[in-house]
Amino acid sequence: MATDVLISDGDLIAKLVPKDKDEVQENLDNQENPIVKPLVLTISAYQDGVLRLKIDEDQSLSPSKKRFEVPDVIVPEFLNKKLWLQKLKTEKSEDGLGILSVIYLSDGYEGVIRHDPFEVFVRESGKNGKKMLSLNSNGLFDFEQLREQKGENEDWEERFRSHTDTRPYGPQSISFDVSFYDADFVYGIPEHATSLALKPTRGPGVEDSEPYRHFNLDVFEYIADSPFGLYGSIPFMISHGKSHGSSGFFWLNAAEMQIDVLGTGWNDEFSSVLMLPSDQKRVDTLWMSEAGVVDAFFFVGPGPKDVVRQYTSVTGTPAMPQLFAIAYHQCRWNYRDEEDVYNVDAKFDEHDIPYDVLWLDIEHTDGKKYFTWDRLLFPNPEEMQKKLAAKGRHMVTIVDPHIKRDESYYIHKEASQKGYYVKDATGKDYDGWCWPGSSSYLDMVNPEIRSWWAEKFSYENYVGSTPSLHIWNDMNEPSVFNGPEVSMPRDALHHDDVEHRELHNAYGYYFHMATSDGLVKRGDGKDRPFVLSRAFFPGSQRYGAIWTGDNSAEWDHLRVSVPMVLTLGLTGISFSGADVGGFFGNPDTELLVRWYQVGAYYPFFRGHAHHDTKRREPWLFGERNTELMREAIRVRYMLLPYFYTLFREANMSGIPVARPLWMEFPDDEQTFSNDEAFMVGNSLLVQGIYTEKAKHVSVYLPGDQSWYDLRTGTAYKGGVTHKLEASEDSVPAFQRAGTILPRKDRFRRSSTQMENDPYTLVIALNSSQAAEGWLYVDDGKSFEFQQGAYIHRHFMYSDGKLTSSNMATAGSGSKKFASECIVERIILLGFYPGPKNALIEPANEKVDIELGPLLLRGGRGSSVITIRKPNVRIADDWTIKIL
Ligand code: NOJ
Repeated sequence: MATDVLISDGDLIAKLVPKDKDEVQENLDNQENPIVKPLVLTISAYQDGVLRLKIDEDQSLSPSKKRFEVPDVIVPEFLNKKLWLQKLKTEKSEDGLGILSVIYLSDGYEGVIRHDPFEVFVRESGKNGKKMLSLNSNGLFDFEQLREQKGENEDWEERFRSHTDTRPYGPQSISFDVSFYDADFVYGIPEHATSLALKPTRGPGVEDSEPYRHFNLDVFEYIADSPFGLYGSIPFMISHGKSHGSSGFFWLNAAEMQIDVLGTGWNDEFSSVLMLPSDQKRVDTLWMSEAGVVDAFFFVGPGPKDVVRQYTSVTGTPAMPQLFAIAYHQCRWNYRDEEDVYNVDAKFDEHDIPYDVLWLDIEHTDGKKYFTWDRLLFPNPEEMQKKLAAKGRHMVTIVDPHIKRDESYYIHKEASQKGYYVKDATGKDYDGWCWPGSSSYLDMVNPEIRSWWAEKFSYENYVGSTPSLHIWNDMNEPSVFNGPEVSMPRDALHHDDVEHRELHNAYGYYFHMATSDGLVKRGDGKDRPFVLSRAFFPGSQRYGAIWTGDNSAEWDHLRVSVPMVLTLGLTGISFSGADVGGFFGNPDTELLVRWYQVGAYYPFFRGHAHHDTKRREPWLFGERNTELMREAIRVRYMLLPYFYTLFREANMSGIPVARPLWMEFPDDEQTFSNDEAFMVGNSLLVQGIYTEKAKHVSVYLPGDQSWYDLRTGTAYKGGVTHKLEASEDSVPAFQRAGTILPRKDRFRRSSTQMENDPYTLVIALNSSQAAEGWLYVDDGKSFEFQQGAYIHRHFMYSDGKLTSSNMATAGSGSKKFASECIVERIILLGFYPGPKNALIEPANEKVDIELGPLLLRGGRGSSVITIRKPNVRIADDWTIKIL
């Protein structure tokens, strides 16, 4: 129960003391060394409806150590949004039995603490305001406090196979229940290969499920439907329901976590479980962590986009990538040597397939010593990069966190001399086994070591690197082949004596951070870095892209890649994708083609394969299949202006590029558990095809407006499931009526070569003959957009007029971005035919309207109405009137 509830220094603070009679008695019997000391609870309110709850041991009672709180995740701007609480309202609870203390949270919402039994919740304002989410409504809160070991009869050591965890501080876990009210489903908490709407892991009808686990691991051949934890962890859950909307809960904690989603009726078997009265439907969940403190955030929503915005206001919005990074990437373990690189590069040109980035995996190094080159295979890395760069292309090399323990390796020498490695429980440099053999691991939690690491990316230090080279961070869970569960022992020691168990899930995050900082520093802070990471944690979105690791060349893995990418997007990581084709195994041709067709819409689009697989570059499967893969990749290039605009939206607001349907159609229940289709932004719906030789595909098109087939322009009714013939040419994709898509229709070798190409605008009219859309453009490369060097347009079509107006906030910075790019075609879908020409204002020029194809090449089907050569500049304000 909570006692001493009061306002102090702008926060609500209270003490939590045991209520359980046995615990109280035990404490009385053992006054010298009480087992359960009061805990300190702090509740703070932040702008925009974010409530923060912290619970920790009372430092004035000298616990045996300070429990770890993860630094560097919460962005400083968030802390500035703290509200200074002044008043506490007290009221009787609904049942008249308890006391509630109430604080203002935001307009329409309040934070509440019930004293006895202790419960914290957020509700709509007012005494009978509806609850939105709560902690400890089932009384499952438990906090194992640090204490003295009781002689020899208490054994804290734990054994796992040949490993012993010394657990010097004993058990220190924390658990509690969180309830989401009026929710139909909960989502989030990546990374698991499973459905988007999270299935219950406990309760009637659930057989043998484990909880969703958060423990970053290098999982060999993961299966496509499991709550098992993969490479990254984000303890952020979002709920959604028809009657209420969304709310969210985030626990900032980097130790192993297990989360149960409790199916309705889960508590029937536990009569002892407390259930605070509620007539609201709710989804209960149970959270448990091995260590750390409670540092939890409640987000009030009420819409799904609001929740994501609130969550990214705490952990940061995604970094704005360079344009090349959102185009197509070609990877393989390994492109063997320079000749191989040049051949692959040339073949793309020969087959007229655009691509932007060629990747080099671990074999390009000298003995897996990162920052070095195998000079037999890659004698002239700089020249190689420059040759590719001449075509506007980039390269990526891999840099993993395990450092080869080789005295002749400068990184190892310096790191060991400076004492920069993580230590084992005895205080010696931890020595584990990874690709190079015996390896040690840098203690990336230490800011000094991160900045030392960042320096290694300077052009002088990373010999053979050039400005067109970017980085891939793999194995950063960290993966240790001979460690417990293929990772680092939990009792290994970091900076400030923090045990690895306390920060395990954040290790990869820090490595990603340091690498990304390194790329920024090497160019004097001018250009945006690109760093792909496998491990992740809340905040990783600020440092680069994430991919879903070692999937397999199986239809089920293509299928699960979609909910995996959508889940990452919901939890802040907008820039993500799965290995196209599947990493392990050889995809049959149909699967590979389908994967390209779906993968072209992943925010991060890269083909990759294990070294034991057959080569699978897009031209190796006969002319027809080359054509199909070329088409899939070209669709991505055609839509790059739209994707780039969406990446900027994510960068400003946190709203992901790839979105579940319910994010755009929050009232439509049919969308809530649909994870076969997804939205790209607000305008495009993509339906994957996940079975072999599919003849038909069912597509649910939400809303009451029409949808236009992206290739043919054919209109389909909204609010209906359509059974369509499955085409070999593409997976179904539709433009939503009421939207305007910016495209670039000329195909070149790489995205950077499309810079000055003209635009096409595709206007899909809704039933009121209206539509709107956006276009964001900058130099595609530098950070100058942060000082105002960009063009951001809003296109609005209504009353027979298309208007382009400026979205950039006036005086948003000192820098300007100039572009001479023009709009060369405007296509109208759903237009009542008749008119012959259009008038451009202010130029007062007439242009023709005629029939034209929707796609210049590759498309079939109907002609559409086209305004040809309006040639207005994207940088200008203009209006085009249909006459
Ligand atoms: C594991 C990664 O997940 C995979 O993508 C990579 O090819 C291998 N490590 C080798 O670096």
